[in-house]
Amino acid sequence: MKQKLLLLPGDGIGPEVTAAAAKIAELVAPDIEIGEALVGGASIDQHGVPLTDEVLAQAKASDAVLLGAVGGPKWADAERTKRPEMGLLNLRKGLDVFANLRPAYCFEALVDASTLKRNVVEGLDLMIVRELTSGVYFGEPRGIDSDDKGVRRGYDMSIYTAPEIERVARVAFEIARGRDGRVCSVEKSNVMESGLFWRNEVTALHKAHGDGVELSHMLADACAMELVRQPKQFDVILADNLFGDILSDTAAMLTGSIGMLPSASLGIEGTPGLFEPVHGSAPDIAGQGLANPCAAILSMEMALRWSLARPDAADRVMKAVAHALKAGARTRDLGGDLSTGAMTDAIIDQL
Ligand code: NAD
Ligand code: IPM
Ligand code: MN
Repeated sequence: MKQKLLLLPGDGIGPEVTAAAAKIAELVAPDIEIGEALVGGASIDQHGVPLTDEVLAQAKASDAVLLGAVGGPKWADAERTKRPEMGLLNLRKGLDVFANLRPAYCFEALVDASTLKRNVVEGLDLMIVRELTSGVYFGEPRGIDSDDKGVRRGYDMSIYTAPEIERVARVAFEIARGRDGRVCSVEKSNVMESGLFWRNEVTALHKAHGDGVELSHMLADACAMELVRQPKQFDVILADNLFGDILSDTAAMLTGSIGMLPSASLGIEGTPGLFEPVHGSAPDIAGQGLANPCAAILSMEMALRWSLARPDAADRVMKAVAHALKAGARTRDLGGDLSTGAMTDAIIDQL
């Protein structure tokens, strides 16, 4: 049976960058069946909701899902359940992709594209493992209302269960074993109970299942600072949903541009992975052919590697991106002037 890849282009630059990634997939893995469906604002416009049951079912029946980006000013004022971002959160939850892998590596050719000094980023290769289906993003209760004295308030709940921490920590340990063997677990155990619980659980789990892995802990604020001071000290960073989100945008700037950062979101074995660039829909440049397609193309690379079991095709894509950058191909965010299409063609030339 043919493997199935579902494209969910979404909004803003989403369709521009997923089209680029699909073009590459068709070349390196032509036998894969590629389908397409709506998510985010595009789905709201068509169906009134950011993710329909049908599309979720279609995603579940695929081998991998590649999502572009969701959101934009057009839908920003809608109530929460009608916002594009809810489509993405429901998709992550629906696929139960609890482990979000966000690698940050600095391509040799982009060492001088980062706002940080060459010696800080040269050779950088770290992996953020972000918990993706729990924590403050999903915790209950949450709301905007008034207390019994009539004082208006907004609140969210940061909560993690032991099994939720365990399953993502195991992934971090496993990934570290295939790398330099070091995991730095990040939280705010100094002020948050859920953070203290996270630290204790990860420590206990490491004692039981951490063979071959060196575990350290860092407070999230200090980690943000260390990420820009001396990022090469890190191998794998394990973080909850919210801190992992923030730290991965920070890490993006070490690589030269947010337009370079891919991600893979994985669930239990045998279920489809969700692959998406770390960047958003970039409304400021949407529709102008200015988007850097690398994050989406590298997300496709991760799909080929992690869900579609095609390491050779993945290697080809990775090498082609590196060679295109080496040959000087740059979109505007990287200081060049190539359009999305021209950058994609420059990568295809190197396949
Ligand atoms: P953003 O990532 O969309 O944009 C931040 C900045 O980075 C902008 O200046 C943008 O032009 C630039 N940028 C982003 N991707 C780029 C690319 N591929 N090439 C070149 N430049 C790029 O973040 P934002 O502006 O905070 O959010 C815009 C919308 O996207 C919001 O609605 C937000 O909720 C949504 N969002 C979606 C996702 C997702 O779908 N996974 C992720 C982040 C933000
Ligand atoms: C990301 C985004 C999303 C998140 C939003 C759009 C829901 O910022 O994928 O990093 O916060 O997880
Ligand atoms: Mn984010």
